[in-house]
Amino acid sequence: MSGISATLEGKRLLLGLTGGVAAYKAAELTRLFVKAGVDVRVVMTDAATRFIGTATMQALSGQPVFTDLWDARIPDHMAHIELSRDRDLILVAPATADFMARVAGGMADDLLTTLCSARRCPLLVAPAMNVEMWSNPANLRNVELLQRDGVTILGPAVGDQACGETGLGRMLEPEQVFELVATQLAGPGRTGALAGKKVLVTAGPTFEPIDPVRGITNISSGKMGYAVAQAAAEAGAEVLLISGSTALAVPRGVRRIDVQTAQDMHSAVMKNVAKQDIFIAVAAVADYHVVGRKEHKIKRGKGNLTLDLAPNPDILGAVAALAKRPFCVGFAAETENLREYAQAKRLKKNIPLLAANLAQHAFGKDDNALTLFDDSGEHILPRASKIDLARQLVAHIVEMLQPKRGVTRKSR
Ligand code: C5P
Repeated sequence: MSGISATLEGKRLLLGLTGGVAAYKAAELTRLFVKAGVDVRVVMTDAATRFIGTATMQALSGQPVFTDLWDARIPDHMAHIELSRDRDLILVAPATADFMARVAGGMADDLLTTLCSARRCPLLVAPAMNVEMWSNPANLRNVELLQRDGVTILGPAVGDQACGETGLGRMLEPEQVFELVATQLAGPGRTGALAGKKVLVTAGPTFEPIDPVRGITNISSGKMGYAVAQAAAEAGAEVLLISGSTALAVPRGVRRIDVQTAQDMHSAVMKNVAKQDIFIAVAAVADYHVVGRKEHKIKRGKGNLTLDLAPNPDILGAVAALAKRPFCVGFAAETENLREYAQAKRLKKNIPLLAANLAQHAFGKDDNALTLFDDSGEHILPRASKIDLARQLVAHIVEMLQPKRGVTRKSR
């Protein structure tokens, strides 16, 4: 039995299919899960049955397929509750724009949406649709709503589409969906390229109080750091996220410690760093804090108000200086001279890898572009969603951690 099968054996999946040409990929996906020892229960919408037969899905899963909210095989007509109660996870692949809109809106008017609405287990969806449908503002809004509600979105990929157009919206390949879902089904630290590794990520802005109601902060949204935490968790790592104040949901499988100031973040990192294998400093840490924070609200005066600012600890610098240090990855947000500043920062902080981005293209946005700097040179990760970039960054780290085989990586 392979390692992954050993950890998936006996796990229970509810696989939902909605109406899209990519439904054929769900057949292969079912085969991969069943082969790995997973108990797969299939639920299909009416539209899905127009693309692939229930007989095919029944044969591949080895179980009856459900399509009807009022299925008489379930006692008391409780299919919408019963079918998901014993499941470890619900995966909907392919997921249409319509399905995502209905779940994002809390609608529950067929078997699959009622199951999602009444679930107690994680929900993962693999969207599949035309490029224009994917980039439609309403769809992107629904994707964001789902993510905020803790739903994991797998993909989509860029490529040829059934309609003849090309672009973002293709469903990920069955093997890719399997890998991502298997990691989550197995639980943290069980499978994936970072299985057994502990990863510490800092994210978000810090806030330096001036008085009880005011402070100094920056416009970091935390999205890049949270994406990095999610990508590391997807790769099987046990992830601890130390986060400044953000409006983001904790990625599934990640443990979060909330902090406010740079000094709090420094203390939390130093307290937890000893057991970590990898430290990824994505947080936009304030360089200074206010000396003599006022106990009461400062009143408006006539003249200028002068704040006395003292430097904050350099968290990444402190971790990189430890005798027994984790693999350290830094981020640099610059507004100009990206390459020059980033290289200098990597050498000054004495870290093996630094990801640089232009602040004006990164802060608060859902997409970004990164340039990675390491000993082998410069690696450009072109503009993509932050989660895609985070997955590429994690893949780069995995590659750097692999024992050298006398092959030099190509730099771009
Ligand atoms: O602020 P700066 O551009 O120098 O940040 C570069 C890297 O150092 C980032 O990875 C950031 O998270 C980290 N940093 C830190 N502590 C600070 C300042 C920055 O860990 N006080």
